[in-house]
Amino acid sequence: MKKKSPDNKTIELLNKRRTIRAYSAKPISQEDEKIIIRAAIRAPTAGNLMLYSILKVTDQKLKEKLAISCDNQPHIAKAPLVLIFLADMQRWWNYFELCDVQKKCNEMHVNFEKPQESDLLLACCDALIAAQNAVIAAEALGIGSCYIGDIMENYETHQELLKLPRWVFPITLICFGHPKGDKDKIPLTNRFPVDYIVHENIYHQLSREDYKNMFEGVERKRIIDYAENFGQQIYFEKLGADFSIEMRRSVKVAIKNWINGNQKD
Ligand SMILES: Cc1cc2nc3c(=O)[nH]c(=O)nc-3n(C[C@H](O)[C@H](O)[C@H](O)COP(=O)(O)O)c2cc1C
Repeated sequence: MKKKSPDNKTIELLNKRRTIRAYSAKPISQEDEKIIIRAAIRAPTAGNLMLYSILKVTDQKLKEKLAISCDNQPHIAKAPLVLIFLADMQRWWNYFELCDVQKKCNEMHVNFEKPQESDLLLACCDALIAAQNAVIAAEALGIGSCYIGDIMENYETHQELLKLPRWVFPITLICFGHPKGDKDKIPLTNRFPVDYIVHENIYHQLSREDYKNMFEGVERKRIIDYAENFGQQIYFEKLGADFSIEMRRSVKVAIKNWINGNQKD
């Protein structure tokens, strides 16, 4: 028997959310947009530093370029509202320059630290947590959304298109729009049973038997015809696919630039 959700509107909203990739022509009102952005910036943020920026894409030509550079996803160009969540350490480091922090460090004979890998991860945490607040606020307003992880691909193109400085990294793009048709008719995607996701105290690696049980009833449609099992299917469809290979290349370049800079800086 299916467990009933508790009688709580927020929990119900979370449990019923699904990704929406087809949008009606109805625009998102300025008031709704403000609510979505306000909710995003009320998200928890490391040290209350807001280590992110939100880039609103309003230029249709730019949306179309992004639809191509983000692994050819036309719904990006059709979304009434497109927000890119940027991990952003640039804002603080520019301010540190204005505040002569480096000079002060020198006077004190302490090392002046530049953003490193940990800062990138922390800023990504901030940006993604804000992004998810935006998704849930939109959902509460009847507005659907779709994350686009492929904004992490083609780093050099996106850096140029969006004029991103060294310590700004686009961690996600989100399309927002009123759902086309009845969104409740879109089936909820399945999830693996909670027992395989939640560990207690220490991490447990799964056995062959665990995998068999975990995937029971949640296997996806086989679309890679040469795959002989579910593992091969997921590898060739997702993690070994061209878009993942490009994302690995692109993120490597971005991290290198974050750490070492390049000629443009
Ligand atoms: C980090 C991240 C990246 C994603 N990237 C894409 C994407 O590039 N294109 C897309 O159509 N959906 C994307 N999605 C949406 C997922 O495909 C979707 O969340 C997943 O299939 C589960 O479906 P549901 O959100 O309806 O439960 C992404 C989701 C996340 C969290």
